[in-house]
Amino acid sequence: MLEWLKQPGFYGTHATIGADLSQSMATLFTVLFVIGWFQAKRRQGHTHHWLMLGGMVAMLGFFTSYYLFRQLGVLAFEGKEGFGGSDFMYHKVFIPLLTFHITLVVIGLVMAVYMIVLGFRAQVMASGKRILRDALLQTSWTKMGTILGGITAVLLLLFTSRVVTSGFSTRKLMVYLGLLFLIGIVFAIEVAIQRIWPNGERRHRVLGRFTMIIYCILFVTGSITYTMLYILYPGKIG
Ligand code: HEM
Repeated sequence: MLEWLKQPGFYGTHATIGADLSQSMATLFTVLFVIGWFQAKRRQGHTHHWLMLGGMVAMLGFFTSYYLFRQLGVLAFEGKEGFGGSDFMYHKVFIPLLTFHITLVVIGLVMAVYMIVLGFRAQVMASGKRILRDALLQTSWTKMGTILGGITAVLLLLFTSRVVTSGFSTRKLMVYLGLLFLIGIVFAIEVAIQRIWPNGERRHRVLGRFTMIIYCILFVTGSITYTMLYILYPGKIG
């Protein structure tokens, strides 16, 4: 399977099948989310709900399994070998672009999960239609503490089982601590966000637009990265 993903891709560029598959899926999901966004604008809550929920779950599933399978990106290990352009292009254009893209990926992943939860919490069914409830939506400190405590316990359990099966490593510990730190930051931001937009409907609309803009920029920066790597400045990856 890994060997198959490394075969020349189907778009006739210098990309591998894996890279072409990943780019095609990114296009498919972006189109799906934009259609879902327009359905929400047209007050079609039901269609919006299924497009966003289905799309986000499929996207999270595809990209996490794909990147875990590919050992988190070939470029991270091959470094400049994978890029055939000049030093200037590499350091001043490609790396800043890739860093920006990856930062947005992390924000996009967090927002995907966050928006799904918020969608379920903020929606109500009113005469057969799915609408957002125009009301205060806030989580108490006790509930936040319980959820955070639960997540910490699950992570601790996962970490312990990994250590038992494949031994302890500082890298593993750092990954789990990093994940816990990220979740902690998200909860802290959520407290601030709840103060700024206490109304559930308003919060879903404002943050939903923010998330959609992130996904559109992600698609553009991802496509530029693909073009630079596999069309304009192909390197030795393949
Ligand atoms: C996962 C990513 C999601 C994003 C990015 C998102 C984004 C949005 C945006 C931008 C709007 C407002 C549209 C506008 O007025 O311009 C909206 C409305 C809405 N969303 Fe979501 N949403 C997401 C998931 C969900 C989910 C999972 C549900 C249900 C469980 C949901 C239920 C709704 C409803 C009912 C509306 C109101 C539609 C109306 O105005 O009648 N959303 N969403």
